[in-house]
Amino acid sequence: MLPTKPINAMIEDVFATRFTCKRYDPDRTVSDEDLNTILEAGRLSPSSFGLEPWKFLVIPRESALTDKLREIAWGMKRNAPYSIVILARKHMEASSPHVAHMMTDVQGASPEDFEQRKDMFANFQANDLGVASDPRLMFEWSCRQAYIALANMLTTSALLHVDSTPVEGLNYEKVNKFLADEGLMDPEEFGVAVMLQVGYHDPTHIMHPKTRQKAEDVVEFLK
Ligand SMILES: Cc1cc2nc3c(=O)[nH]c(=O)nc-3n(C[C@H](O)[C@H](O)[C@H](O)COP(=O)(O)O)c2cc1C
Repeated sequence: MLPTKPINAMIEDVFATRFTCKRYDPDRTVSDEDLNTILEAGRLSPSSFGLEPWKFLVIPRESALTDKLREIAWGMKRNAPYSIVILARKHMEASSPHVAHMMTDVQGASPEDFEQRKDMFANFQANDLGVASDPRLMFEWSCRQAYIALANMLTTSALLHVDSTPVEGLNYEKVNKFLADEGLMDPEEFGVAVMLQVGYHDPTHIMHPKTRQKAEDVVEFLK
């Protein structure tokens, strides 16, 4: 699978050179323009039925919240100009207010279309996806979609030459409680899916060679 066009080579280079930043430069920040583009990559990400079961909390380095969060999120790195918490929705049932809002207000379904879509969606959740009867599975389904937004934000950062860190290294119970206690998240509606940080690596950052399995070990072409 050799690249044939400059764009292919460029894309492969972006993926080959992006890395998880372990140490941020305390003296640099991300421009508003770049931060906005990274957030737009999240907002514009695809989601099942286009229901966008997410929310992005953007926390600047200077915020007192950053240090408090780091105490319960061991995977977070110091000095990142922005830490972004990606929340996932708990209530994605066909009968939920969010689904009604998305299908009617955002996607513009007429009342008849909405009833039809809602039934189809309920059937899909119950019989195909199998998440309808289990709130944990429902939330995990939202989280799976939040990770699509995460991936797009990581790639967009790399395209902009902004370094980033995906962060799952957190105590979910404590971070959920913290955000709820601070009044930043309604725990009835949302839970933490994952986080990311963006910024520029410190000049002392040690770059490790990228380790990945070989293409032939992970890609199988079928006849
Ligand atoms: C969902 C997810 C969660 C991660 N959580 C953390 C984390 O909490 N802290 C950290 O330093 N790295 C974290 N990583 C980074 C991985 O360790 C890293 O992506 C992997 O080792 C490959 O290295 P690379 O990203 O530099 O190519 C996470 C990566 C992903 C995709």
